[in-house]
Formats: sequence, structure tokens, C-alpha cells
Amino acid sequence: MQRTSLPFVLLTVLGACQSAPRLAGDITDTKLVTWTRLARGVHVATLGDLRNETRYSDLAAAPPRLDSLNARVDTGLADALARVRYSIDADGRIAVRIPTETGERIHGYGLQFDKTMHSRRILELKVDHFNKGGGKTHAPVPFFVSSRGYGVLFDTARYLKVHNEIGNRKDSTRNPEEVDRNPPPDEKQAGPWLARPPADAIEASVRARGLALVGFSGTDMLDVVARYNLFSGGGAMPPLWGLGFWHRTPAKYDAAQTERELAEFDRYDIPIDVIGLEPGWQTKSYPCTFEWQPKRFPSPGTFVGRLLDQGVRTNLWVNPYVSKHAPIHDALYPLSGSHMVWLGIVPDYTLPEARAILLEQHQRAHLDIGVSGYKVDEVDGYDHWLWPDHATFPSGTSAETMRQSYGMHMQNMLMSGLFQKNDRRTYSLVRATNGACSAYPFVIYSDSYGHDQYVTGLSSASFAGVLWCPEIRSAGSEREWINRMHTVCLSPLAQLNAWASGTKPWSYPNATDAVRRMIQLRMQLLPYLYTAFARYHLDGIPPIRSLLLDPDTHVMREDNSMFLFGPDILVAPFLDEQTERVVRLPSGDDWYDFHTGRLAGNGATMTIKAEHTGDMPPMFVRDGALIPMLSRKINRTRDAREMPIEVRHYGRREGSCELYEDDTETFAYTRGVYRMWEIECRDGALYPSLRKADGPSYYGAMTLREMTAR
Ligand code: GAL
Repeated sequence: MQRTSLPFVLLTVLGACQSAPRLAGDITDTKLVTWTRLARGVHVATLGDLRNETRYSDLAAAPPRLDSLNARVDTGLADALARVRYSIDADGRIAVRIPTETGERIHGYGLQFDKTMHSRRILELKVDHFNKGGGKTHAPVPFFVSSRGYGVLFDTARYLKVHNEIGNRKDSTRNPEEVDRNPPPDEKQAGPWLARPPADAIEASVRARGLALVGFSGTDMLDVVARYNLFSGGGAMPPLWGLGFWHRTPAKYDAAQTERELAEFDRYDIPIDVIGLEPGWQTKSYPCTFEWQPKRFPSPGTFVGRLLDQGVRTNLWVNPYVSKHAPIHDALYPLSGSHMVWLGIVPDYTLPEARAILLEQHQRAHLDIGVSGYKVDEVDGYDHWLWPDHATFPSGTSAETMRQSYGMHMQNMLMSGLFQKNDRRTYSLVRATNGACSAYPFVIYSDSYGHDQYVTGLSSASFAGVLWCPEIRSAGSEREWINRMHTVCLSPLAQLNAWASGTKPWSYPNATDAVRRMIQLRMQLLPYLYTAFARYHLDGIPPIRSLLLDPDTHVMREDNSMFLFGPDILVAPFLDEQTERVVRLPSGDDWYDFHTGRLAGNGATMTIKAEHTGDMPPMFVRDGALIPMLSRKINRTRDAREMPIEVRHYGRREGSCELYEDDTETFAYTRGVYRMWEIECRDGALYPSLRKADGPSYYGAMTLREMTAR
């Protein structure tokens, strides 16, 4: 016998009391979602038939971190989640309705460049080349977080259309009153007529047989994001070298030109850890062969080895589309989709046999000679650069699902089939990713170049478990060059991408000193940044994040021109050609100037000028914060080994910080082989204690530097 639920009975009775008959689209046409608890504050639900659907979480780099999730406060199932309803229509569209409240703020939906706040907007989440707004982007992560302390991941690799409080249901009790927009002369208009009357729910839909949902309930937005990242396997942990300075050479450079350029870095005394080779390193590109071009790189093993001897890693540009000149082309042909991209076949990497072919070639031609990572290009593309929605793939995976997940398949394959297998961490780049991807050490980049968008990206990425590289390529002036260098050096990946411009850090002679000082500062901040990444890995706390995610600052208003670098440094970069800017410091805490240690303010609005920061970016530190830094400047991250740590103390309060150490290169940290210091500063002295001591030490002794005069 079928059981009828109580809410259904009540709604039916209420419905029967009304005089008008209920019509299709009434709320009774929707069903309440049934959630199953996975861990504290994490619930899952399945709508429809998931057998032929791909869940993003199935492609995650690591399984959900249930241990860490269950160590958090048990938040139960958020009220909003308990009220989620869904419907499936005759065309196979599954729609989900999540009730919202007045004043609720909605953030997330991936790496969006225009905003981090998405209340009262419609988004179409689709992997696409850069686009400003609307949802089409390199990382259209279908996860949102609400200011009410919950979030939802739509965990199915499909295009997702989201109406955030747009579209009023006739049966809602919370619709605004109608307003006569054209009252007669003797009547006053009752209020503003709204073209988009606010609705009372987030309504999202996919066209699919099934949709998986993951609901997160937390104490605040940062807690919800952290739980989402832990569900996704935790945050990525780059090797220490990945956090040094990266330089990509022009697309047609050869080995000798590259080595000469590297020598120039040393001559100019500018740090460098990674050289990125662009398409011309291959025999043919694009489409690609993945084999070294002998006319440019006659002896790739020697070349990569000579760079490694100098402490410099090699990163290779690739796109996945295989040239007919590639030795692996014929083997991959039957394992590829119906349509090509730039005349290269598109391998179906959901198939183990296709993966095995590529991985064997990459291992032999790249990993075995010491290559450290990839830049996986063109896995986004506009409609006319990718395969059409009617393309077919031998595994039966739909073209739509393939488009939404191709970047993740690439990361999944390279990560498990090469880097984990060789017990060598990578820090790599990819131009498209999607849900549940936070554990991948792949950073997103773009061909767009708006400086303000690049800074907004740093905030929006933090809501989505994504790492974003606001790379520097060129500039219209020395000032712009300096300002862009600031931003990229305070991001997850500090990269100069000179593939087309041929620029070098010293290309703007009058800016070279400022550029050198900024890159050196990034290097000195490595212990602080690496520790922030450890917190990302262990607890899911994004290393660089929006101020809206900081529970201590109580910032409510969207201001994406500032962001947090690590737990305690607020950055308010100069944009474009600015030599001064207005900074509105959050209220609550006193903030201190990073460079001078002087009190900057608390909730204050001020104008900061480049002439007063010594051409460094405006940076502020929370009262009492300790910032562990290298005591000296270095040009390679390997020189950080055994270097003394200077712990800077800002402000008047006593404070504490952590310092993380591991072997910096292998996956031993995933087995708990690392050290975590808790460092306290009291009465002008440092008190470091080792909270976890299961790995090798890396840095040297610690000393205190009081930055604020007392
Ligand atoms: C673009 C990519 C650039 C550069 C270029 C090389 O698609 O975004 O960063 O790698 O390809 O052809």
C-alpha cells in the first residue's frame, strides 16, 4: 500500500478548501526532497534516475574527508534544505526549489568575473571561454552558499539554469504587492513598479534523467564552503616550488632561448621557480602531438635536467586534441568522439584504454625526464571551438556531460595516472573545471584580461573550491605593469605568461625595482602561504578568499576590490594605472599597515597612495596577527630549506599563528607525514610548540620581529 506523507495530506486538504481548482505548476505538483546524512552538516539526495548521469563528485581528486567533516560541529540539516522541493516534467526537466528569505544573500556559482553576489539573477552554468557574467565561464561550479549558513551542490554534469529569486510562483505567500504602473491622474502610484519582482526561492533545473544534490549546513558561510571543500576531498596542496614565481616563454622559443632567458632572471636578480613552455615545444600544435620538437629541443632530457639542476621546473602547455601526426593518434582514433576540435580528435578519457595510451606516452616523454606539470588549454572553448551538443562519444557519455566535465577528466587522469603514481606532487594549470574539484592542484587561467575582473576572480573562486591565477601578460604602462604584478604575486599562482607578448619582469625598466621587490615579497611570504594551503587541504579553508567569507570582519557588502591573502592579510590592490585608491577597512578589528606596522584603522575609509607604500600594494594585517616569513630574500624556493623564519607581529594584541612543514614535494603529507607548529607571541617573546611532529623539519630557527612600535 502506498503511504501518503503528512505534509501531502495537509496540502491536499488545504487545496480542497479553496474554491478554484489547483492547476499544473501549483506547489502540490512538487515533492519534498528526501535527504540522507553523509557526515556532519552534509546531506545527499537523488532525484530521478542517476544510472546514466555523471556526478562531479565521482571525478573528485579524493573521496569526501569524512574524518574532518565529522570533527566539525554537528549542524544537522539546515531549515532551508529541509524545505527543498522538486519536480520532473514530461520533457525530462528536473527542477529544484529552495525557499529563500528576505535579505538572504546568495554567493558562489563558480568562477564568475563580474560579481560574487548572485541574489536576484539568472545564471546559465555552462563551461565556456571567458565571459563576463551570466554563468558561462571556465569554472561554472554549480555550488552556491547562502548567508543563512547553508549551501547546495547540484552534483550532476549537465548545463544548469538557475533562477535566483527571479520568477514568481502564483501560489507563493511572499510575493510583493502588485503596483499599478499607470495610475489615473487622481491616484498616486502605490510604490515603485518592479520589472523583476523579488521571488522567494532559488529555482534550478537541468534536462537529465537524474540529479544528485548535496546539501551543506554550517555555522556561517566560511564553514559551509569549508564543508563543501572537504566533501570534495579537501583543498589542493601544491608542492612548495609551485608557489614560487612562474614565467612562460614565447610560443616558438627553443631550448637555447629558454636557457638564455633563465640566465637573465638570475642576472636581474629576479626569483623564478617554473619555466612554462608554450605550444611550440611540440612537433605540431594545435592539434597536438605531445612529442618534443627536435628542431627546437634536440635533447629534451638534458634541457629539463639542466633546468632542474638550477632549481627550476618545467611546465608543458598542451591541449587535449590529438593531431594525426601524433604517434598515439591511430590508437586513440576509435576511442574518440564523433567531432574534432581544431582538426584534432577528442579522446574519450572516460575509457580506461584511452587513458592508458596517453598516460604511457606522457610518462615516457615527460615525467621520466623530469617534467613537473601541465597547462591544459582549450578544455573550455566557445560553442564554435568545442564539439557540438549532438556529438557522440564511444562510451555513450553525452556531449553536454563531456563538455561540463572534460577539464575534470583531464585533471583526474593526469593526477592519478602520473603524479600520484610517481609520488610527485604537481602544481598545474587548466582552463576549465567544475564541481567538487577543490582537491585538484590545478589553477584556472583565462584569455580575458580586465584587471578588476581578475581581482574579482580571486574572491569568486573562494566560494567555489577553485584556484584562480590572475596572470600578468603585458601592460600599457609601467604603472599598470607594477599594479598587475602586485595582484598576481598575491594570488594562488604567480605567473608571467609571455607566450604572445615576450615580456619579461624587466621589460619596463623604471618598474623593475618595484617588480623585483614584489616577487621577493611573495617568496618571503612562502611559509605563511604554504601554511594557508595546508589549512585548505586539512580544513577546506580557501587560502585566498573574499572578505565576505571572513566571519571575524562581519563584512556584508560586496566589495570585490579587496580580498584576504591567507588568514590575516587584507589586500586592496591598485587597479589598472591607479597610483592611489580608496580603501574601506572592515570594522571590528584594528588593521595595521603590512609594510610599516603602523595602525591603519578600524572601519576607516582612507585614500592610499603608491608613493606612500613604496610602490608596493596596500596590505593590512589584523591586530595581533603573526605572519611567519623567510628571514631573507631568495630566488628559488629550494633555498627556503633551513632558512630562519622571521615571525612578524602586528598590532597590540597578543596573537598566534601556525607554521606548516613537510617534505614539500611528495604525497607523504596525505599519510599524515607533516609538522604543524602553533606559535604564540606573549610579552614580546615567541612561544612555538609543535602540535604535530610527524614529518621532517624544513625551515630554520624562529625569531620575533615586532612590527608595531609600543
Ligand atoms: C591560449 C592560452 C594562452 C596561450 C596560447 C598559446 O589558448 O590561453 O595562455 O597558452 O593559447 O597558443
